[in-house]
Amino acid sequence: MGDSLMSIILMSLFPLILMGILVAAMFYWYQYVYRRHQLNRKWESSIKMRKPKAGGLDCSDACAIMVDDDGSDSSSTHANNLNHNTEPLPIELDLLVGKGRFAQVYKAKLKQTSSDQFETVAVKIFPFEEYASWKNEKDIFSNTDLRHENILHFLTAEERKEEKQYWLITAFHPRGNLQEYLTRHVISWEELQTLSSSLANGVAHLHSDWLACGRPKVPIVHRDLKSSNILVKNDMTCCICDFGLALCLDSNLSVDDLANSGQVGTARYMAPEVLEARLNLENIESFKQTDIYSMALVLWEITSRCKIIGEVKDYEPAFGSKVREHPCVESMKDNVLRDRERPEIPDSWLRHQGILVICTTIKECWDHDPEARLTAHCVAERLSEIEDEPEKLSSRSSSAEKIREELNGPITMEIPEEEVKINEIQNIIDVDCSVSDKQ
Ligand code: ADE
Repeated sequence: MGDSLMSIILMSLFPLILMGILVAAMFYWYQYVYRRHQLNRKWESSIKMRKPKAGGLDCSDACAIMVDDDGSDSSSTHANNLNHNTEPLPIELDLLVGKGRFAQVYKAKLKQTSSDQFETVAVKIFPFEEYASWKNEKDIFSNTDLRHENILHFLTAEERKEEKQYWLITAFHPRGNLQEYLTRHVISWEELQTLSSSLANGVAHLHSDWLACGRPKVPIVHRDLKSSNILVKNDMTCCICDFGLALCLDSNLSVDDLANSGQVGTARYMAPEVLEARLNLENIESFKQTDIYSMALVLWEITSRCKIIGEVKDYEPAFGSKVREHPCVESMKDNVLRDRERPEIPDSWLRHQGILVICTTIKECWDHDPEARLTAHCVAERLSEIEDEPEKLSSRSSSAEKIREELNGPITMEIPEEEVKINEIQNIIDVDCSVSDKQ
């Protein structure tokens, strides 16, 4: 009697146990197989959609399709996350392309699950000890509001426990970083416009507290902007990378949190108030103002390699000849604080009306007084006006002369007398940034 009761109970429980096992197996399958397949498919399809464009495949192009016209995210599932699969993505490292303070960057092949094909990606590898830097960059990248054509496109992050490494997988840009690019190339006026306005657009997006669609966004500051942290895409636009020191300026941050974030960045590109460790922690705008100073130095570097300025010297970073290769904070203090030095803008550069606008903008961005600096939004607006309305710059004007004098003092330069027309240069420079920026 007891035995038959037991077997009846077991028989009736059997389907339930079987169901349980089936559900667990399906859950496992979803988590570890389906999601991985999804991730690969998303990456593949994003690349395929851009393939009609001539030229080789550049994963940079994949970024664009992940973003709607208004800059908001168009996809429902976000690759911007930690890869939760137990199995890492099928990636084969190819070539070391960059070495930073915390990590190394490799060109790599991401194999497609459905075929023998692969896509080129960049893999940033952090050693075990640099967990904090990997975590910060992963967290910043995982915020889908960061997506923008001028911000490096992030695919996923992985903890490679066996290798004791942490990985970030992103788009790969064969032209490399801006510093390398400027070292190897003299650029045209059009390329200067594209590089500089896209850089300003990227910083403006980072700093903005609104998305183009009107939804609020948490502003982010980069805190280590420099030409080696900016990549050049195939269309000669920039995208900003290396968010290891970036900071999300969310409203929950206390003054203590901000104070603890310390003096960070690269000494050469540090704003005077960072060098002095006298940042106004009461106001989050002060963090943005330090990025603007660094961006001005990068804009100067880009301008210095443009053939339109006249004689183009070999690439030198800002303060190139004044300090050694990796200057310390103390030597930058001597230059930037004690001597109030800034990179030179020779008069000969200012013969071109567009360069005049760019140099005026640069000067306003590296002002000693952080409050006097332009916002990224204002810089982006000004630079896009030069791009959109080049005819405005086609003739010389007396206002241009006035600006030239304000920049470098009176000069004895041959300027044709027949100049008439427009005050447009003044108008571009006078773009009222006070309302649009202090949003
Ligand atoms: N150097 C650093 N990151 C890179 C990337 N994503 N593509 C190309 N070169 C890089």
